[in-house]
Amino acid sequence: MSNRKPLMAGNWKMFKTPAETQAFLEAFAPLVAATTHCDVAVFPPLVNLAAAVAAAQGSNIGVGAQNLYWGKEGAFTGEVSGHMLQAAGCSYVIIGHSERRQYFGETDATVLRRTQAAIEYGLIPVVCVGEKLEDREGGRTDAVLAEQFDGGLAPLTAEQFATVVIAYEPVWAIGTGKTATPEMAADAHKFIRGKVAEKFGAEQAAATRILYGGSVKPDNVKSLMAQEDIDGALVGGASLEPKSFASIVNF
Ligand code: 13P
Repeated sequence: MSNRKPLMAGNWKMFKTPAETQAFLEAFAPLVAATTHCDVAVFPPLVNLAAAVAAAQGSNIGVGAQNLYWGKEGAFTGEVSGHMLQAAGCSYVIIGHSERRQYFGETDATVLRRTQAAIEYGLIPVVCVGEKLEDREGGRTDAVLAEQFDGGLAPLTAEQFATVVIAYEPVWAIGTGKTATPEMAADAHKFIRGKVAEKFGAEQAAATRILYGGSVKPDNVKSLMAQEDIDGALVGGASLEPKSFASIVNF
């Protein structure tokens, strides 16, 4: 029904060296060379971006980073800007992953600044939202998603928001082997799409891609992708091995 092109994204987190990145892409590229039903991207650690961009050249695989800083350049030791990522050949950047929120002080306010910077430098931001286990058990899932949307995305202009990809990642499903059921995921996606519609209008809501993340594997991707409001996956562990990620991409 929708004409949203799915995005299958592999978040490698803090895994792989440059040589391992190259080896992955050499094995992976032929497995997805004929894939046209979705966009495909990998998100390696920063030190591997050059290797990834070189190895992905001429393929249908996009490359993204896992974070960025909002300045263009300056005295910000340890940080990397959207300007640099774009110049290095990235097309995407993940923003506000729950691990960054949990361990590195990411807030909805910094998510907003990073998202604005990503858009300014022509990167497609993949902005993560999702509730913790205690939120879900306390019946606060929708409230948490609304708060993250209101703080991190709603202040964007309609023009800025147009390129944003949202990733719904329930924190309790990340790296735990506990996937949200397709119905739970579908409910959350529908809620988020409703928030997009409220703020940016029905047409934009119908065009916005919302990915699911959290223990996506070759054997559960199909039932997730069967949900009307799920437009792709943000895959952690199962994206580290070429065959496994290819079978998710080609579900
Ligand atoms: P897993 O697929 O390993 O659960 O990780 C999900 C995730 O956090 C992707 O960003």
